[in-house]
This record gives sequence, structure tokens and C-alpha cells, in this order.
Amino acid sequence: MSTSSQSLSIARPHGVASPASDASDLPGDDARRRLLEAYRSVRTRTQALIATLSAEDMTVQSMPDASPVKWHLAHTTWFFETFVLRQARADYVPFHADFGFLFNSYYNAVGARHPRPQRGLLTRPGIDEVLAYRKHVDQHMRALMIADAALRWHDLIVLGLAHEEQHQELIQMDVLHLFAQSPLRPAYLDASPWPARSLAHRFKSYEGGLVRIGHDGDGFAFDNEGPSHPVWLEPFQIAETLVTNGDWLAFMADLGYQRPELWLSDGWDQLQSHGWEAPLYWQRTHDGWEYMTLYGMRQVDRRAPVQHVSYYEAQAYAQWAHARLPTEAEWEHAARQGGMAQLFDSAWQWTQSSYMPYPGYQPARGALGEYNGKFMAGQMVLRGGAQVTPPGHTRPSYRNFYRPEQRWMFAGVRLARDVAATAPHETRDAPSDFARDVIAGLSAQPKFLSPKYFYDAAGSAIFEAICQTPEYYPTRTETALLADIAKDIAADIPGQAVLLELGSGASTKTRLLLDAAPQLGAYVPVDISQSALDQAVDRLARDYPALPVLPITADFTQPFDLPPALLERPLVGFFPGSTIGNFTHDEAIGFLRLLLDRLGHRARLIVGVDMVKDERTLIDAYDDAGGVTARFNKNLLARINRELHGNFDLDTFFHNVRWNAARQRIEMHLVSRIDQTVSVAGRWISFEAGESIHTENSHKFTESAFSRLAGMAGWLVRRTWVSPAPSFAVFELEPAMTTDAENPSFE
Ligand code: AVI
Repeated sequence: MSTSSQSLSIARPHGVASPASDASDLPGDDARRRLLEAYRSVRTRTQALIATLSAEDMTVQSMPDASPVKWHLAHTTWFFETFVLRQARADYVPFHADFGFLFNSYYNAVGARHPRPQRGLLTRPGIDEVLAYRKHVDQHMRALMIADAALRWHDLIVLGLAHEEQHQELIQMDVLHLFAQSPLRPAYLDASPWPARSLAHRFKSYEGGLVRIGHDGDGFAFDNEGPSHPVWLEPFQIAETLVTNGDWLAFMADLGYQRPELWLSDGWDQLQSHGWEAPLYWQRTHDGWEYMTLYGMRQVDRRAPVQHVSYYEAQAYAQWAHARLPTEAEWEHAARQGGMAQLFDSAWQWTQSSYMPYPGYQPARGALGEYNGKFMAGQMVLRGGAQVTPPGHTRPSYRNFYRPEQRWMFAGVRLARDVAATAPHETRDAPSDFARDVIAGLSAQPKFLSPKYFYDAAGSAIFEAICQTPEYYPTRTETALLADIAKDIAADIPGQAVLLELGSGASTKTRLLLDAAPQLGAYVPVDISQSALDQAVDRLARDYPALPVLPITADFTQPFDLPPALLERPLVGFFPGSTIGNFTHDEAIGFLRLLLDRLGHRARLIVGVDMVKDERTLIDAYDDAGGVTARFNKNLLARINRELHGNFDLDTFFHNVRWNAARQRIEMHLVSRIDQTVSVAGRWISFEAGESIHTENSHKFTESAFSRLAGMAGWLVRRTWVSPAPSFAVFELEPAMTTDAENPSFE
């Protein structure tokens, strides 16, 4: 053999010399012509794949699982030499006596071999000699195919071509892995990939029952795809499209890589030992994520299917998404029935099926029995195909397989679900109020969300933090004002009156009134949060042992019932915090009317109201320098991700605060930085760059404006207290009209 150490430039244009020339001049049948053409086409394609690679690129091995490109070129050739030429031709002389040892992959029956992790140490043979090896074998193969009248070797040659196509994909996987190790991050391909299209995320339902899977005998298939056999499937749903990078960003933003409860035990171990925090090849930048691709480093394309995730990551994602991975039988059945997109050309799709023999499977006799069967332990099946998979190489019955921790293949995720466990928004059950309101608000033009959804556990905690920021003056100003005027207010409260607080939370400000008005007969906190109520009630019981506390768990904006015994007593409503400002004027009027109706015509109502003031103070209060209010605002998107299977990437929205002078209100918005499409509760919502979701109004009042509003709801302002700047007011309201039967006042 030639062991020339000459460094050759092997970069070739795509029209590399054909290993076997066109078959059209041949005598013989169509089958032979098709075989010759298939052979030429596959072997040519392999060599086209090295057009942009240098000899050095093709020599290095970046990890034990990968192989140098030069090795792939030689091994696929060795396959034809070993399993076809040497069997078919007694007089065939191998190209080189040592190549059987160097380029045997894993066939024990064929003899000893060079250790896999050391393939990258083979500086010789050089690439020119490997290409000469390919040419030599191609010439002999062509001669064999022309001479082989009975096409006895047809099936073996077709197997060799399918095998070589598998290595075409491996070449691209291994080049990507190798190039990702280089600080230069070279591009293997010059052209840019098409930006991915947005596809609607929907689940498609299948009835299941007794179905057949496996290769049924027509055309080529690997042995592991058969025998075809019946499988029982429960009804299931499978996603029409693959999980996208945008979905994955939402999983990451929701701490998917930090929550052990989402992960299989072995997966969590892998995550910790490798420090996984994103798919393979992803890299954090100052403004988001980039990833290494065959086209070099790129901004992560949110619409493209996620790739390079392990089985463990796929499983954790599915767990997070309240779904699961499909079984391989479900996948194959759905693929045959139709209804799934991105089947064979986007990313391999992990299934939850272990790679096991099908019933009745028998590996072929001889060395080729080692092709698939001996790997049937410790691996998971992937179905479909990726963009690096040669076109036409795969089919519905195709079973790819990898170990669950491997990530360098182009593996992605398609979700499935049990029909019984389908999320409420996609069953016949009524959607939750939250789901319905979110979908309605995000489908409106302009988009909006109700501020009442800010206050889940995380949002309530962030709101407490807002109240501690130097810029957010309302809470501390109102508290100071109430401390000053509590005695004044209390002086007007008759003995045994009931104090009823709307949206009581921790009941902090209430204590100022309770301390000043020991004559109160009971305290009724109303709040939607049971846990907030429980905690507040415990603390009040400790600090005010003589005061009956009668909590009501309810959304105070909706009609709720008071125990009849309370209605006998004088009632004092308490609505501090300027929450009234978060209502539209119509809502505020409706709410105040509702209170009048509930509390009756002898009631008093104490309302805390923030006042109009200079724009700077107002804006700063809602756009604090520490970014706490921004976090509060964005938590709404995080909540949608958590509760409604949303995939908002929080980094692509910014917090925006505006003073609307005409309407005398602070507005909070979340503005999309980019054009994007987001999935929420099974719907797709599109955003243009710069488009906003209006999340909150915080109306500010003058004394006269608030009096007018109260008047429209049937209340009269009885007394007003206003703090020094920044101005905040407390109003005491009384019903504008009383009936004769009722006591006109407390006095
Ligand atoms: C609860 N509410 C009165 C607050 C306000 O000022 O409108 C909510 C808030 N939003 C941003 N910061 C505080």
C-alpha cells in the first residue's frame, strides 16, 4: 500500500468523479440498472459530503463515539469489500492487507480490529489512499454488478448502500461535533439554512386498538424492523409537530434543568455530572442563546425543532409539558395513518420504547447478524429522520437507536399524551377562567391580560418586594397616613361594628384600624388565597385574642355571601392599597355598587386611593431601578407557561411603563422584542416586534374625580384625608341615599 505522507488538498466540487459511470449504456434488466445507479449515487453522495473538508478535518476524532471522516470513507468501502467482493469473487485481492483490521467497526465474526477510541490516531493511510481504496472497490463492484447475471448479491449490495447512507449522517454528526470543539467554530456548509416556519402545535387523537407495526415485506428494510406484528394501543394523542427551540427556552426559563422532580434518576445524575443546562451545542451569550450548527454559530432559531437533546432531556421536557414521549408503536401507527408533520426531515424523535427485538426476530446468520441485533440492550428507539438523514433513507418502520444519554445525533422531541390525562383546555371540559381569559386577551387587538392574574404565589411574593422598593411610594405612604388618621376613622365606628376587608392578603394595614377601634365586634377578611387567609387568621388570633375573625375565601370582585348574622350589625368596608385604581372606571363603578348592595345602606366604606402627581414619580414607582416590577410583570408570562402549557421566552419581552395623561393612569405593558409565535393552551399567538400586551392600568385620581366615580356608584364622600407628597388619599364613603327603615347614620 502507499503510505504517502504527502498532504493533499482533497476538497472537491460537488461533481466529484463518479465511482461507477452511468448505467444507461448497459445491457441487462432494469433491476441491475437500478442497482448500478443506486450504487453510483450513494457512493458519489458520500464523497460530495467531504467537499469542504481538509485532510486534517478528516483525520481527527473528537470523542470516542465519533469517528474521523476518513475512517467513515474507508469503513463503508471495507463493508463492500468484506461482505460482497470477498464472498463473490474467490480471486478478489483486497486493496490492502491491514485495512480489514483498521476499518472493521464491530464485527467479531470477521476478526480483530483497531480500537474504536483510537481511530483518530490513524494518520495513515492518508486521505488520498483512502480515496484510492474507494475507487478500487468501486471498480470491482461495478464489474461484479455487470457480471452478476442472477443478481445474487443484490440484497447485500442494497444493505451496503443503506449502511453507507447511515454513515453519511454520521459524517455530518461527527463533523459538527468536531467543529464545535474548535474555538473558530468553523462552518461546514456555507449556505444559510432556511429559517424555520412556525407550525401550529396541536395534538392529534388516535383511537388505538389492535394495530400492526413493523416492516411488512415490500422494499428494503433492516432486519430490526421486522417481523411485522400486532400491537394493542390504548387511545392516545400525538403532537403534529416537534417541540421547538422556543418551547425549549420556556422549559429552561421555568428552571427545567434545575428541577429534579422532572427528571429520571439516571438523567438527573447525567445532568449533574455533565453540567447540562441546555441542549448540546447551545451557548449562552449576553442577550440570549446561540448554538453551533453545520453552518457555524447561529442565533437559536426559536421556530426550529430542538435538536441534540438526550432521551433524559426529552423525558424531562415531556414531564414538564404534562405530556410524555410516544411509544414506538404509537409513533409508527400515527405515521402510517397520517396527520403528523416533520416526520423524516427535521429531527429524530425519541420514543419511550427500549430497543428490543420484535416478537419472532432472528438475527441473520453469519457476520451480518451483528449489524443490529447485538445492540438490543440499554438503548432507546428514535423514529423519523433528521435533515442530515439522506433523503429516502428512512420509512415509518425505521428504528434508530441510541443510548439515553447521547446527544450528538440530531435528536428532538415529539410529545404524546394519554387521552384520559389530556389537559383541560383540550378536552370537552370547560377551560379554566384563567385559560379562557388569557386566550381571549391574547387574541384581542390590542392584546391585554387581566392584572388579577398577577397574584399567584410567585406574583404575590414579588408584589411584597415591590412595596419595599424605594420608588414604590403608595404602600408606605398609605400606611403612614392610616397610622395618622386611624383614631379619626375609629371615632366614627360604632360598637360591635363588623370590619370587612376586600382583598385582605396579610391584613397588615388592618392592624392600624383594629388597634384604634377596640369597639369592633368582628373582622371579616375576604381573599381569594386560602393560604394567605390561613396565615393572617393565625396571626390575628394570636395578637387579637378577643376579636372574632371570620374569613371568607372568595374573589371579592364577584358577588359573595355574608353570613346573615353579620348583616344585622353596622358594617364598615375597608378597601386600601388603591386597588380600585386597577379597575376600569366601569368596573370600579360596578364594584362599588356591588359593595353598596352587600354592605347595605347603613354602611361605611374606607377606600385608599392614589392621587395624580408628577409623571416622573409615577413612572419610577412602576419601573423601579432594581427591576422588581419588571419581574412582577413578566411573572404573568411565567405563570402562563407554568399553568397553561405556554412557551413564552421571557427574555424576548420587555417591561414597559407609560403615563396615559388623557385617562389619568399608569399603564404597564409587556412588549415583544421580536416577531414571534408563542403557544398557549394549545393555541398559537403571533407577535410582531414592538407589539405589546397591556397588563395593568393603575388609575390615579383627584379628589373631585374620585367623588364623581363614587357618586356614580351611589356613594357620597363623607371625609377625605390626603398625605403629604407623594399624595395618597383615604376616603370615607357613605351611601348617598338611605331608606326610612334604616338608621341614617352610625351616630
Ligand atoms: C395592587 N395595585 C394597587 C398595585 C398598583 O400600584 O397598581 C399593583 C402594582 N403594579 C405594579 N406595581 C404595583
